[in-house]
Amino acid sequence: MTKRIGILYFSPTNTTKKICRAVALGMGTKNPQTLDMTFPDTRTEIIANPNTVTANIDHLIIGAPVHSGKLPLQAMECLIAIGGNGKECSAIVVYGNRDYGIALYRMVEILSKNGFGVTAVGAFIGQHTYSDIVPVAMGRPDESSNQRTKRTSYYCKGEST
Ligand SMILES: Cc1cc2nc3c(=O)[nH]c(=O)nc-3n(C[C@H](O)[C@H](O)[C@H](O)COP(=O)(O)O)c2cc1C
Repeated sequence: MTKRIGILYFSPTNTTKKICRAVALGMGTKNPQTLDMTFPDTRTEIIANPNTVTANIDHLIIGAPVHSGKLPLQAMECLIAIGGNGKECSAIVVYGNRDYGIALYRMVEILSKNGFGVTAVGAFIGQHTYSDIVPVAMGRPDESSNQRTKRTSYYCKGEST
């Protein structure tokens, strides 16, 4: 059976969104069900209906950027509310090549506690938001990131490389 793939991300400057989409495409879906929790209205909707996020999917790819070594508070508030209902998920954090701190650990902890089965995790490098001031990880994700997203997709599908 083909898995129904969903993506849920928080992505103020779109890098996390690109990486989550690349992982979903690598899993073989062309049109993943997408929820963008960057916007307050979507977060309010999710928090009010915590079980609908996983209702029509088999595997949820969840992504957030790292802010000061942690998950952004808005993303965390939303993740804490979601019911996993025994569904599979993968946990992805995107950081600006400084340090991803406790963000990935915290994401896995929250998702496991909420009843998800976390089958794959990944910390990806994206261009640092403050690169206008000091250029860091310019142009990432780029070609060198593609192998990593592909490998993560294999793990998400439950295959080994
Ligand atoms: C407020 C803020 C704090 C950040 N803190 C970190 C950090 O601690 N470590 C790091 O490597 N990158 C840090 N970054 C960079 C982002 O994690 C990185 O640019 C990421 O690709 C942004 O993802 P997005 O485009 O989905 O928003 C920070 C960015 C912002 C805006």
